[in-house]
Amino acid sequence: MIHRTQVGIVGAGPAGLLLGHLLHLNGIDSVIVEDRSREHVIDRVRAGVLEQGTVDLMTAMGVGRGVQHSGLRHEGLYISFLGQRHRINLAELTGGKAITVYGQNEVVRDLIEARAETGRPLLFEAEHVSVGGFDSSSPEIRFRHGGVDHALQCDFIAGCDGFHGICRPSIPSGSLTVHERQYPFAWLGILAEAAPSSDELVYTYHERGFALFSMRSPSMTRLYFQVPPDESIETWSDDAIWSEMLERMTTRDGWRPTVGRIIQKAVTPMRSFVATPMRHGRLFLAGDSAHIVPPTGAKGLNLAASDVLVLARALKEYFTDGRTEWLDRYPEVCARRVWKAQRFSWWMTSTLHRFPDENAFDYHRQIADLDYLTGSRAAMTSLAEQYVGLPAEVSFESAGL
Ligand code: APR
Ligand code: PHB
Repeated sequence: MIHRTQVGIVGAGPAGLLLGHLLHLNGIDSVIVEDRSREHVIDRVRAGVLEQGTVDLMTAMGVGRGVQHSGLRHEGLYISFLGQRHRINLAELTGGKAITVYGQNEVVRDLIEARAETGRPLLFEAEHVSVGGFDSSSPEIRFRHGGVDHALQCDFIAGCDGFHGICRPSIPSGSLTVHERQYPFAWLGILAEAAPSSDELVYTYHERGFALFSMRSPSMTRLYFQVPPDESIETWSDDAIWSEMLERMTTRDGWRPTVGRIIQKAVTPMRSFVATPMRHGRLFLAGDSAHIVPPTGAKGLNLAASDVLVLARALKEYFTDGRTEWLDRYPEVCARRVWKAQRFSWWMTSTLHRFPDENAFDYHRQIADLDYLTGSRAAMTSLAEQYVGLPAEVSFESAGL
C-alpha cells in the first residue's frame, strides 16, 4: 500500500512523539512508525529528570497536565562526599529555575494519549522498517504492518529511532562522522518500593565508587551505583545491592536511603556518542539516534526535546512559506547544544566516578574538585545553570506555540 505524508517519523520515544505533536499544532501531517508494542514503549524504565525548559515546552504544547500534577519539582540537589551532603540551591542560583522528576515512561504515556486525541497515525509493531531516497524530493519509509507491506512517501523523514535504530545506519558511511567515548564502568540501577528519604537527588562520590539517590514518586525510590562495565545483574542479590547502596550513601549525620522491596533492577552501560551532521538530504536525526550522553547529567531526554523544538521550527517555516534557512541550520544549531550537554555530562561523570586506572593523586584531586564545587558560589552557579538546562536555541513562538 502506498501512502503520503509531510513528515514521516521513525520511532515513538520522546523525540518522535514530541515532534509529532509540535507538527500537529502547526497543522503539519505526520505518520509515526514504531517497531515495538505500545506496552513495551510505555513500560521501559528510563531516566526521569526534566529540565525547566522541557517542562515549559510540554506545558506550552498542552501536554503538561501529568507533569504539573504528578511531577516532583526540585529546587536543589545534594553532592555528597567524605560522608557529608552539600546542598546546591538550583532555584536561587538560576533566578528561580528548577528540575522536575517525572519518569520518561510517564512522559511517553502522556504523549501517546495526546497523539491518540489528534487522530493522527501512530503505528506500533511495524516490522522490517527501512528508509531511503534522502536525496530525492520524496524519501520513503517502508515497513510491514498488520500483514500488509507499506511504502510511506514523505517530504521529510525524522529519524527519532534511538541509538539502535535504522535511520543513522542508513546514511552512507563517509557522510557521517562519529565521536565516541566509552567509560570503564556501568550503572546498576534499581526501583524500590520505599518512600524517598530525601526530597532531593543525592549524587555521591565514595571510595567504593559513585552512587545516586533519586525517586519516581512519594512511594518509589530510584537508586544507582557504579559497577564494572561488564557486570552481570545476576551476580547481585537484592541483599547485596542494598548493602552496597547503604555503604556508599549513608552520611555521617545518619542519612541513608529507606530500604524496600526491589521491583526492577538492571545494569546500563555508559557512553558519550555524537554523530554529525544530524542531517543527510531529507533525513533529519533527532534525539538518541544522533547522540548519547552518560546518564550522570540527566540530559538525554532533554536533548531530544531541544532537537525537535529546533526541527519543528525549521519544518514550520518550510511548510508555511517554503523557507529552508532553518532546515539548513538545523545540524549546526543542534550540535552546539549537544556538545555543551556532552561536555557537562562528561564532567559530571568524571568528577563523581572512580576510574580503574587512577592513583592517590587522582583521588585527592577529585575530592578537591568536589570541595571547590560545593564551596564556591561561582562553581555552584555553573553546575546549576547547566543542570536546570541552558536557554533554548529558538523561542517557543518561532516553533508555532
Ligand atoms: N523502526 C521503528 N522504530 C524503532 C526502530 C525501527 N527500526 N528502532 C528503534 N525504534 C524505536 C524504539 O523502539 C523507541 O521507541 O524508536 C524509539 C526511540 O526512542 P528512545 O530510544 O527513547 O530515543 P529518543 O526518543 O531519542 O529519546 C531520548 O531516550 O534513551 C533515552 O535517555 C534517553 O531520555 C533519552 C531519550
Ligand atoms: C533517575 O531518576 O533515573 C536519574 C536521575 C538523575 C540522573 C540520572 C537518572 O542523573
